[in-house]
Amino acid sequence: MAGITPAFITAFLAVGSAMALGAALANQGNTSVVPECVQACSHLAHIFGPDAYSLGNANVTLWDAKQQGTHSACWVQPSSTEDVSTILSVIIDTSCRFAVKGGGHARDPDDSVSAGGVTIDMQKMRTVEVAPDQKTAKVGSGHVLLSLYEGLEKYNLTTLGGRVADVGLGGYVLGGGFSHLSPKYGLAMDNVFEYELVLPNATVAIVNQETHPDLYFALRGGMNNFGIITHFTMRAVKQGHLLGGVRAYTADKRDAILEQAYELTTSWKNDTNMAFFYSYGYDQERDDFTLTVSQEYYLPVLSPAPFKQLNRIPFEHSTVRLDRTSRFSIESASATPPGGRNLFATVTYSPSADLDRQIQDIMAQEIQSLEKAPGFYPNLVIQPLYEAAIRSGKERGGNAAVALLTVLWKNAEDDERMNAFAQEWVERSTATTKDAGKHHPWLYVNYASKAQDPFLSYGEANLQKLRRIQKEVDPQGVFTSDGLCRGYFKLQ
Ligand SMILES: Cc1cc2nc3c(=O)[nH]c(=O)nc-3n(C[C@H](O)[C@H](O)[C@H](O)COP(=O)(O)OP(=O)(O)OC[C@H]3O[C@@H](n4cnc5c(N)ncnc54)[C@H](O)[C@@H]3O)c2cc1C
Ligand SMILES: *[C@@H]1O[C@H](CO)[C@@H](O)[C@H](O)[C@H]1NC(C)=O
Ligand SMILES: *[C@@H]1O[C@H](CO)[C@@H](O)[C@H](O)[C@H]1NC(C)=O
Ligand SMILES: *[C@@H]1O[C@H](CO)[C@@H](O)[C@H](O)[C@H]1NC(C)=O
Ligand SMILES: *[C@@H]1O[C@H](CO)[C@@H](O)[C@H](O)[C@H]1NC(C)=O
Ligand SMILES: *[C@@H]1O[C@H](CO)[C@@H](O)[C@H](O)[C@H]1NC(C)=O
Repeated sequence: MAGITPAFITAFLAVGSAMALGAALANQGNTSVVPECVQACSHLAHIFGPDAYSLGNANVTLWDAKQQGTHSACWVQPSSTEDVSTILSVIIDTSCRFAVKGGGHARDPDDSVSAGGVTIDMQKMRTVEVAPDQKTAKVGSGHVLLSLYEGLEKYNLTTLGGRVADVGLGGYVLGGGFSHLSPKYGLAMDNVFEYELVLPNATVAIVNQETHPDLYFALRGGMNNFGIITHFTMRAVKQGHLLGGVRAYTADKRDAILEQAYELTTSWKNDTNMAFFYSYGYDQERDDFTLTVSQEYYLPVLSPAPFKQLNRIPFEHSTVRLDRTSRFSIESASATPPGGRNLFATVTYSPSADLDRQIQDIMAQEIQSLEKAPGFYPNLVIQPLYEAAIRSGKERGGNAAVALLTVLWKNAEDDERMNAFAQEWVERSTATTKDAGKHHPWLYVNYASKAQDPFLSYGEANLQKLRRIQKEVDPQGVFTSDGLCRGYFKLQ
C-alpha cells in the first residue's frame, strides 16, 4: 500500500504479528490508513489477539451507511477499564487517530468509526451491578439500551434509558438522554452519580461530585471531550409493565394532534408519569404526510387521564399497550432499521401549536425538490424538554419543545442537497421561533447537525468552564478538534 514505506515495514519486525498485519493492510488497499496507525494496530494485535482485535470493521453493523462505509486501520474491543487504558496508551504513544464506538448511532465518518485510525468498540463492556439498596446500578458503557433494560428487568428495575433498543448507552448518556422517565428525573445525564473514566493520559479516574467536581460537571453534557467512559453509576428505578406504543394518523388529523401535543406539554406537565413525543413525516409511497404519536406512562394504566382526549382521535393503527420497556425498545428499533444515510438537526422553543405547524410547513416547503430522491424520508419529531430536565426550563416556568428533524435517504450523490435542505430548515425555523419571541437557545447535542454548535448554547460561562477543565485534564489536546479523537462535537 502506497502510504507505507519500507522503513515502517522494517519497524514492524520488532513486534510479533507485524508481518501478517502489514500484509493484511496492504491487501485492504486503503491508502488513507496513516502509518502511525499501522504501528498502533500492530501493537494492539499483539496484545489483544483475534478475539478482541480485527482489521477492518469487525463484522459490526453501524446504524448509518456513511459510518458503515468508513474504513478503520483496525478495530479493538476492550473488556475492562484496564484494557481501555492499555489501548489509549498505545494510541497516544504512536500518535494514531482513533474513535470510540458505543452503540454506533452517530451519523458521520469519524464520529464513532475511525477514518483510517483505530476504532475502540466498547460493545464487550456490558456488566450490570445493582447496588444492595437497588437505588443505583453500575453499568458498562458498552451497553445498548436493550441489553441494559434486560439486565435491570431481572431485578424489576429500569433506568433513564431512551426509546430504541440498539442505541448505545455511551453516546446517549454523554449527550443528555431523553427518557420516558425524564419528566420525573430529568435527562439521563442528570442521573449519573459516578463515572469511571479513562483520562486523556490513560490513567483511570473515579469521577463523582466529591472526588472530581469539575470533571463531574464537565461529563454531564461535555460529550466525548474528556476521555473514555467505561462505567456509569446511574439511578435505578422500580419498573413493572408500563404504557407505551405508537399510534399512526392520516394528515387530516393534524390540527387535533397539534392541539393535544400542546395540551400535554403545558396543562398536563403536572403529571410526571406521562411522557410523549409526536412526529410529522413525509411518506414517499403515498406522496403524503402522516403523523405518529408515542404515548408513555410510567404505570400500567391503559388510558391515563392525560391521553383521554388524544385517544378519541381516530388512528390508522396502534401498538399502544402495557408491556416492558425492553419490548417497547425492540418495537422502536424495528421502525428505525440501519442501512440508510441519515442526518439530524434541531431547534428548541417555548411550546406553541402554531410554531409546531410553522416548522412542519417549512419542512414541507423545503422538500419539494427532493421528494423523488430514492429512499427519502424526512420526519420532524417534536417532544417536550421537561422542566425537570433543564435549569433554564425551570426559570421560564414551563416546558420547552425540542424539534428534531431526521432525514433518511439512500444515495451518496444526494448527501449535499440533503445537508442543504436541513440547513435551510434550521435557519428558517430558528428565525420563525425568534420572530414569535419563543426561541430557546438550547440545542441537544445528540440531535444537532454538524452545522450547529450545541456547546455555544450552554452559555458563555459554562463554555469557558468546560474549556478550562478540558485544558487541565487534556493538556496535549488528545480529545480536541486537532487531536487524535476528533469526531462528533468538539469543544475546541
Ligand atoms: C434510531 C435512534 C433513536 C434515538 N432515540 C433517542 C432517544 O430516545 N432519546 C435520546 O435522548 N436520544 C436518542 N437518539 C440519539 C442518540 O442518543 C445519539 O445518537 C447517541 O449519540 C447515540 O449513542 P451511540 O452510543 O449509539 O452512538 P455512537 O456513535 O457509538 O457514539 C456517539 C458519540 O459518543 C461517543 N461515545 C460513545 N460511547 C463513549 C464512551 N464510552 N466514552 C466516550 N465517548 C463515547 C462516541 O465516540 C461518539 O462520538 C436516537 C438516535 C437514533 C439514531
Ligand atoms: C457477521 O455477523 C452476522 C450477524 O451477526 C453473522 O451471521 C455472520 O456469520 C458474521 N460473519 C462473519 C464473517 O463473521
Ligand atoms: C479507505 O478509507 C477511506 C476513509 O475511511 C474511505 O473513504 C475509502 O472508501 C476507503 N477506500 C477503500 C478502497 O476501501
Ligand atoms: C418482579 O415482579 C414480578 C411481578 O410483580 C414478581 O413476580 C417477581 O418476583 C419480581 N422479581 C424480583 C426479582 O423481584
Ligand atoms: C393536572 O392538570 C390537569 C389538567 O390541567 C388536571 O385535570 C389534573 O387534575 C392535574 N393533576 C394533578 C395531579 O394535579
Ligand atoms: C493524568 O491526568 C490527571 C488529570 O489531569 C492527573 O491528575 C494525573 O496526575 C495524570 N497522571 C499522570 C501519570 O500523568
